[in-house]
Amino acid sequence: MGGGEQLVIAGYGDIGRRVAALALARGLRVAALVRSEAAAEAARRQGVAVVRGDLDRSDKPVVGLPAAGATVLYAAPPPGGGDSDPRVRVFCGSIEPGAEPRRVIYLSTSGVYGDCAGALVDETTPARGTTARARRRLDAESVLKNWGDHRGVAITILRVSAIYGPGRFPFDRLLGHHPVLAEAESPLSNRIHADDLARICLAAADWTASGDLINVSDGEALTMTAYFDAVAAAFGLPRPPRVSRRAAAAVMSPLMLSYFSESRRLENRRLRERLGTPLLHPDLAHGLAAAVAAGVTPAQPLGSVPLSSSSP
Ligand SMILES: NC(=O)c1ccc[n+]([C@@H]2O[C@H](COP(=O)([O-])OP(=O)(O)OC[C@H]3O[C@@H](n4cnc5c(N)ncnc54)[C@H](OP(=O)(O)O)[C@@H]3O)[C@@H](O)[C@H]2O)c1
Repeated sequence: MGGGEQLVIAGYGDIGRRVAALALARGLRVAALVRSEAAAEAARRQGVAVVRGDLDRSDKPVVGLPAAGATVLYAAPPPGGGDSDPRVRVFCGSIEPGAEPRRVIYLSTSGVYGDCAGALVDETTPARGTTARARRRLDAESVLKNWGDHRGVAITILRVSAIYGPGRFPFDRLLGHHPVLAEAESPLSNRIHADDLARICLAAADWTASGDLINVSDGEALTMTAYFDAVAAAFGLPRPPRVSRRAAAAVMSPLMLSYFSESRRLENRRLRERLGTPLLHPDLAHGLAAAVAAGVTPAQPLGSVPLSSSSP
């Protein structure tokens, strides 16, 4: 995308704001759908045009999205319950015929692959996630794909692994001594630094293929326990206590348990080929060292960390 082109962000949260910062620095026009005054204020401060609306209002389509010919980054998650994603339907229903965007980039998750027993997963691997979380994501992907086919909109689906970086480290869990699974029982997972994900979102606007599906991770598979240990070591916090899988059900939240029940390694070859440039943070050690060097500390309240100033 080049100067003057329009980017619309639906789901103006952490990643949306990072993408907006990069896009504005490139001279793009950026508009964001927001549902609270606080988010509207943050958007205006950033130089982002505000469209007020709530994707939970199935009775009220969003009015005023400058979507015609634009690139849309859709970064709102599905709701917390059910088997489908009504929010994506409200978004699609808000686009008037003739006012279609050029492309929608959808932030999905690698959770749609489900538990793969540590196997390597690429974009041809069937999405067999069985949790309601996975079903909602798959529903969102398929609603968008069908709508895109019908309305002539290119859809790019990014299946994103766990996002880490300043403002997102699990300091509360570490400071609260929340347990993790013993290393030998801990599942394999991948990560991507939030600033790299933001660059990838913007780069994806220029990938010409339609119906694109791209796994997003830095390619380094680690156990979740190793991840928590590495964050603890980088910031001088105690390593989290270990529990066996058998004991975990009594001490972990259902959500945490479900994360600890899925093991897979994400192949990122397609991402590397598309991106053509190296990641800013090719592995966790690099991302952690950068955060420490930038002065991130566990005492720093969430949201107080400046957005990335790194250029895409
Ligand atoms: N956490 C991870 O490791 C991970 C991994 C893979 C993918 N993802 C997904 O990547 C996407 C972006 O992540 P993120 O960290 O930027 O998430 P985030 O900070 O939670 O931002 C999501 C944004 O969506 C907005 N939103 C939610 N419901 C909405 C509604 N009904 N109408 C309008 N806006 C709504 C939220 O608005 P409010 O501020 O008003 O709530 C929030 O600004 C999410 O879909 C996330 O689930 C996350």
